[in-house]
Amino acid sequence: MLFDQMKLGKITLKNRVVMCPLTRSRATADHIPTALMAEYYAQRADAGLIISEGTSPSKNGSGYPRIPGLYNEEQVLGWKKVTAAVHEKNGRIFAQLMHTGAVSNLLNMEAGARVMSASSHQLVGQMYTDQQGLQPHSPAAEMTSAEIESTIEEYVSAARNAIRAGFDGVEVHGANGYLIEQFLRKTTNLRRDSWGGDIQNRSKFLFEVVRRIGNKIGFDRVGVRLSPFGTAAGMSSYPGMKDEYVYVLEKLAKLHLAYVHLLDHSAMGGGEVPADAKAAFRKAFDGKLILAGNYEAIRAEQDLNTGAAQMIAFGRPFISNPDLVKKMKAGAPLTQPDPSTFYTPGAKGYTDYPSSA
Ligand SMILES: Cc1cc2nc3c(=O)[nH]c(=O)nc-3n(C[C@H](O)[C@H](O)[C@H](O)COP(=O)(O)O)c2cc1C
Repeated sequence: MLFDQMKLGKITLKNRVVMCPLTRSRATADHIPTALMAEYYAQRADAGLIISEGTSPSKNGSGYPRIPGLYNEEQVLGWKKVTAAVHEKNGRIFAQLMHTGAVSNLLNMEAGARVMSASSHQLVGQMYTDQQGLQPHSPAAEMTSAEIESTIEEYVSAARNAIRAGFDGVEVHGANGYLIEQFLRKTTNLRRDSWGGDIQNRSKFLFEVVRRIGNKIGFDRVGVRLSPFGTAAGMSSYPGMKDEYVYVLEKLAKLHLAYVHLLDHSAMGGGEVPADAKAAFRKAFDGKLILAGNYEAIRAEQDLNTGAAQMIAFGRPFISNPDLVKKMKAGAPLTQPDPSTFYTPGAKGYTDYPSSA
């Protein structure tokens, strides 16, 4: 099943193997995609669907060094080369729209950018900057209603830019502690206005982003990534989380999206997703579901066969095995990735992993 083709909205995927969004920090310091990135993605175009690395919809959302954006023309031009290289190899690619919110340092951002979140807070811990190495996160200011409105419109504009740049669709990043999850979780959203409070209000930011993007580019070109119980970037899990995400998933199901993409990062030290919650999420969302988190071919087949998912996403295996699909088909051993080059500039540990192709 893993290697069977599948319809996704109006496009056909050559298999159900998805390449996870993977931040690799190979864009320029100005957040512009490079020719090296086109080569990297083209090497992996055997995947049924590639989801791009987290890509900022705004200069305020580019919290990490050298992550790409989709908010200016140079970025659109850079991405055009990437999507053309993937399409040339009969691959399909969605852009992941990632606004880092409070997971940010001003040194990584363009002049005039601001660090903002649902509520004002400073994330504990440090993050890497090219200029000064590890630094504390910059304090995030609480967004005003006008800033919420303009940020939603930035997502819409980035989604339209993605389509202009040749992407087959966009994935809204609502996972891993970034801006949308900062709105979703009651631990980081302390607002007293209509964007905070119960889950109906806290999920309004996500739904406004998804609804307005869908209205512009078509809901069948929009996916959403969520990490219920996830504890990345200072997030914490709390009682009632299962019901909150069931609410969100039931509402997403009504939008007839391309897909929802759910993560279980427990193998990477993230929160464990209880089995009963997984079953409840599957019941709540009856559309196309991608599951991710420490998959290999055998467990992927099992989850496709039971209907737990329609597609399976692989992250770290795709970093070090550009020919992952071929290797999984052949049952060949996989190359292990080198974490020391996950985010370093240049070809090393990026485009130089061997391929049997
Ligand atoms: C180097 C690296 C970068 C990542 N960047 C992103 C990202 O930009 N967006 C995202 O949603 N998840 C990101 N993730 C999480 C992966 O998409 C994936 O969910 C995770 O690696 C678990 O899948 P795996 O066990 O197959 O690797 C990243 C993970 C790694 C290892």
